[in-house]
Amino acid sequence: MTNNENLHFYVSCPPGLEPMLAAEYKPLGLVRVKLKKDEENQVIHTIGEDTGGMEFEGPLEHVYLANLHLRTASRVTVRLGEFKAITFAELRKKASKLEWAKYLVPGQKVSVQVTCHKSRLYHSDAVAERILGSIDDHFSASGKKMEKSPEGQLILVRLVNDNCTISLDSSGDLLYKRGYRQAVAKAPLRENLAAGLIMATGWDGVSPLVDPFCGSGTIPIEAAMMAQHIAPGINRNFRFSNWPAYNKVTWNEILDNAKKQIQKDSPPLFGYDRDAGAIEMSKANAARAGQKDHIQFVCQAVSLLESPSSSGWIVTNPPYGIRVSENKDLRDLYARVGTLAKQNFTSWHFSVLCSDDQLIANMGLQKPEKTIHLINGGISVKQVIYIL
Ligand SMILES: C[S@@+](CC[C@H](N)C(=O)[O-])C[C@H]1O[C@@H](n2cnc3c(N)ncnc32)[C@H](O)[C@@H]1O
Repeated sequence: MTNNENLHFYVSCPPGLEPMLAAEYKPLGLVRVKLKKDEENQVIHTIGEDTGGMEFEGPLEHVYLANLHLRTASRVTVRLGEFKAITFAELRKKASKLEWAKYLVPGQKVSVQVTCHKSRLYHSDAVAERILGSIDDHFSASGKKMEKSPEGQLILVRLVNDNCTISLDSSGDLLYKRGYRQAVAKAPLRENLAAGLIMATGWDGVSPLVDPFCGSGTIPIEAAMMAQHIAPGINRNFRFSNWPAYNKVTWNEILDNAKKQIQKDSPPLFGYDRDAGAIEMSKANAARAGQKDHIQFVCQAVSLLESPSSSGWIVTNPPYGIRVSENKDLRDLYARVGTLAKQNFTSWHFSVLCSDDQLIANMGLQKPEKTIHLINGGISVKQVIYIL
């Protein structure tokens, strides 16, 4: 494949973070697919309408850029083909004609994931079997059969209204796995969600940022990486590096460029937690992220929190749980946090992630400037952002 060939690829992100993803992709020069056009060829599907991701078109190097730089992304998948299929024979025949050799070598490990919706072919295991067969057909001259394995190249098949779309995962491990967080405290945030929370507050990257309930340190570490322009994927591998179409020279140029963008200066960043074990984990995670000297982690209960400067940002996710509104300790904790915020942090930006409206109300603050609906660990949550 030449580097200029246009691919369609899809970047998924946690639902609710689409506006942050939209803000991120533009400076990278990525190009959104004009998803729908009306009779006059006018685009009618615009940014903000997709949930959980966006579709792009561009050369393979854009796939490298998306994987390396997008802080809010979960995964990047490249579309291999799209066709109508009503019978298994048609599915196998059409799929066998796709350009598998750009992404796979005969006999390698693969894992096929199928979803079927409103289609005549609705048995997902049978669809997966035909897709595997179609790859064997494609490589029949090699005499090798593909090996089914959960660690293999992920192939995603979607059948909707008898239309089959086949895509390949380019990321490997999900993109929130930056590699630095090996130690986790209770209820850790995914790194891409933490980055999205910070972006949503409009943090300027130079003012102080405080997380009074830092757990394993995800929010301050993501903030440090953002402030220093460290690409989130700089220390990890991606699945696309196994592809026959992979261009090592282009990738190395992109990586070198990302390294040149790194800035040494970091704003004052603070992480507190009352749990000594959590603080040790935060420090170990920060060290792995190269941020040991850029974040002050201190074992301290929130009741002792003081403002380190006259303005700044608090971005945090205090404990909440599922039936917490019945929990008096948590209600008291939120009331204390609200009082502290009002007393010690006048004119600060204050962002809290919480699942429970009652707890948010217990902080006794005025109406938030902004509310964002998200999912964290399978629970519906809200990010409420105030200017104190
Ligand atoms: C939901 S977790 C934060 C997770 C964190 N964002 C991460 O990514 O790992 C909440 C944290 O608040 C801490 N915590 C609970 N009560 C506290 C208090 N009164 N003062 C300070 N920290 C507290 C817990 O020890 C826990 O680590």
